[in-house]
Amino acid sequence: MTAYQSLSKSQLLSTKTGLREEIEVIRASNLALDMTRGKPSNEQLDLSLSMFECVGKDNYMAEDNVDCRNYGGLDGLIEAKRFFAEYMEVAETEIIIGGNASLNMMHDAMSIAMLHGTTSAGPWVKDEEVNFLCPVPGYDRHFAICEHLGIKMIPVAMADDGPDMDRVEALVKDDETIKGVWCVPKYSNPTGICYSDEVVERLATMTTAAKDFRIFWDNAYTVHHLGDGYATVKDILNECRGAGHEDRPYLFGSTSKLTFPGSGVAMMAGSENNMAFFRKHLAFQTIGPDKLNQLRHVNFLKDMNGLNEHMEKHAQLLKARFDAVQNVLESRLAGKEIAVWSRPKGGYFIDLNALPGVAQKVISMASELGVKLTPAGATFPYGNDPEDKNIRIAPSFPTVDEVSRATEVLCVCLEAVTVDILLK
Ligand SMILES: Cc1ncc(COP(=O)(O)O)c(C=O)c1O
Repeated sequence: MTAYQSLSKSQLLSTKTGLREEIEVIRASNLALDMTRGKPSNEQLDLSLSMFECVGKDNYMAEDNVDCRNYGGLDGLIEAKRFFAEYMEVAETEIIIGGNASLNMMHDAMSIAMLHGTTSAGPWVKDEEVNFLCPVPGYDRHFAICEHLGIKMIPVAMADDGPDMDRVEALVKDDETIKGVWCVPKYSNPTGICYSDEVVERLATMTTAAKDFRIFWDNAYTVHHLGDGYATVKDILNECRGAGHEDRPYLFGSTSKLTFPGSGVAMMAGSENNMAFFRKHLAFQTIGPDKLNQLRHVNFLKDMNGLNEHMEKHAQLLKARFDAVQNVLESRLAGKEIAVWSRPKGGYFIDLNALPGVAQKVISMASELGVKLTPAGATFPYGNDPEDKNIRIAPSFPTVDEVSRATEVLCVCLEAVTVDILLK
């Protein structure tokens, strides 16, 4: 296949004619496909149906004679702490089990830092300016939390092994308005990359001008492998502790993509000092979390072996969809040199970079043809992809056939928009 940039004008024109015909065929087929968000498919949700039987009228008591039907247990059931401490690779004293969404806990942690400060210093909101580092492309809802709370975002490029650490270190060294960094260390959203040992070590040991610098370590995809082996990421809490910065990382996780998103169990972890600090604030927010749901999850997943077996089933369903995307991208785009894309071993996304100035047009053309994709720019702070080239593909929810069809439409749009730009 010849690279599009070396095609002559007449070759580009005849390619354009062929693509036009394809577009009209697609239009006539009245598609209605949605690849906007990383939602589990119905088949994945079915994997957890028996969880409904894991608590019931004869099964609502937890360890230490805790009655899960009633108030109490601010930071979670003992068995939930034990189970999810292993999941998050921390000690039982280093975790708080919360409600149904880790995003909620991230928002709380950020709001508390703004209003009440951290274990290291007072409220961020009293500072003239608060900045946060945002590796890009990244997760739109992280960026939305910062924007909502008036925290300014500084984009930092994402490499294949984590954020560009030379840039991160240079920025945080002298600027005390930079209070932290967002990280999705394993199977990152959207690039699917995993942080290398070196990146974790540098994040833990780097000198920050802000004495209350915090790493928001979002472990959303820690067991979400696609079946080609398990990636491991170095223990950030341990590394930070070793460097004398044990209050630096806030870890977050949830079962949203293990069981039922929206009805899962969320958790936050970190140093004992940080956990004591958060328990104090938590006491003003709630009398206690949904313990029945915590019990239901522990009874259903049982232990790490049970959890890993369950995730293998998720992996099979997801892998078929990820393979479908890869096959179509490969067969339609290889050699044309108009896009590069990720081949993740886990997580929920495939990340595609087109030529500059292409993404918005492609996404709106695909939408007109009945294929909804994540809005252009969503993977950047303030919705602004400066090169307008990043496209996030979320293949988990549709069927395998739909994923293939939607990816074909994406490719046709990508080719059509690129050809138009090259003709200009
Ligand atoms: C990186 C990341 N963090 C958090 C979430 C949401 O997690 P939760 O459902 O626990 O709020 C998502 C969902 O897509 C995600 O991609």
